[in-house]
Amino acid sequence: MAEIIHGKRLAEKIREQVKHQVETLGHPPGLAAIIVGNDPASRLYVRLKEQAAKEAGIFFELLDFPEEVSTGKIIKEIKKLNDRDDIAGILVQLPLPSHDEDKVIAAINPIKDVDGFHAKNREHLAKEKASLVPPVALAVVQLIEATHQPLRGKTAVIIGNNPIFAEPIVHLLKAMQVKADFLQKDETSLAAKSQMADMIIIAVGKRNFLKPEMVKEGAIVIDVGTNKKENHVVGDVSPSIKEKAGFLSPVPGGVGPLTVAYLLMNVVRAATMQKSRHSKS
Ligand code: GUN
Repeated sequence: MAEIIHGKRLAEKIREQVKHQVETLGHPPGLAAIIVGNDPASRLYVRLKEQAAKEAGIFFELLDFPEEVSTGKIIKEIKKLNDRDDIAGILVQLPLPSHDEDKVIAAINPIKDVDGFHAKNREHLAKEKASLVPPVALAVVQLIEATHQPLRGKTAVIIGNNPIFAEPIVHLLKAMQVKADFLQKDETSLAAKSQMADMIIIAVGKRNFLKPEMVKEGAIVIDVGTNKKENHVVGDVSPSIKEKAGFLSPVPGGVGPLTVAYLLMNVVRAATMQKSRHSKS
């Protein structure tokens, strides 16, 4: 039976640290979140981020737009947030209903890009000199490290739809000497590739997508999927994986809470960078 990796416990420790760091900052940093449309899962995540931010002493501002809002209007509001000294971090909850996500993210000042999705921050990460790394990538790596397994020289596949989430994970794993590859969910011979991997990170948004025959005996499986089933959330991994994998990060209670904790850590990091920039000018 797979050993369960408890992201929630790891997240609690990080949130305690962040709370402490916020106190030493001397002023509450601000986090602004932008949400567009009415996707219930996106609304739930933003609510969880708001709660966590407030508990850590970070002040939170929500910009809530209807689906019909123009890309231009969102960008205009982001520019106003860029100019505000009380806002240390800005995030745009993805996916956007029908807007140009790259254009919207490009409008965020990279020093306030707490999701680490801006092209500049992604470029820095590829060169291993990043300051704001995507929280979801940090969460995945922390969960893998929590297994205390030797990782050097091992192989990983990241199965997903969106390179904006997958590429940062590939970079972080490569920096740890893991041979990591991004696979699209409709890739030919996906199962043949995934069943060779020592680690599988899956984020496709399809319940029961990852089946036991796609997993190597004893593999580390990190479920990043979020799918609604009746009125609760399930991941992308079929329940019978537990009998085959060596370690499993479950949904809920795995990547989600840890991602929120690292987001808060990035808000503090961004606030600190902005403070030192101000004191220099
Ligand atoms: N949608 C799913 N995961 C994420 C995330 O980590 N950040 C943002 N902004 N949107 C998401």
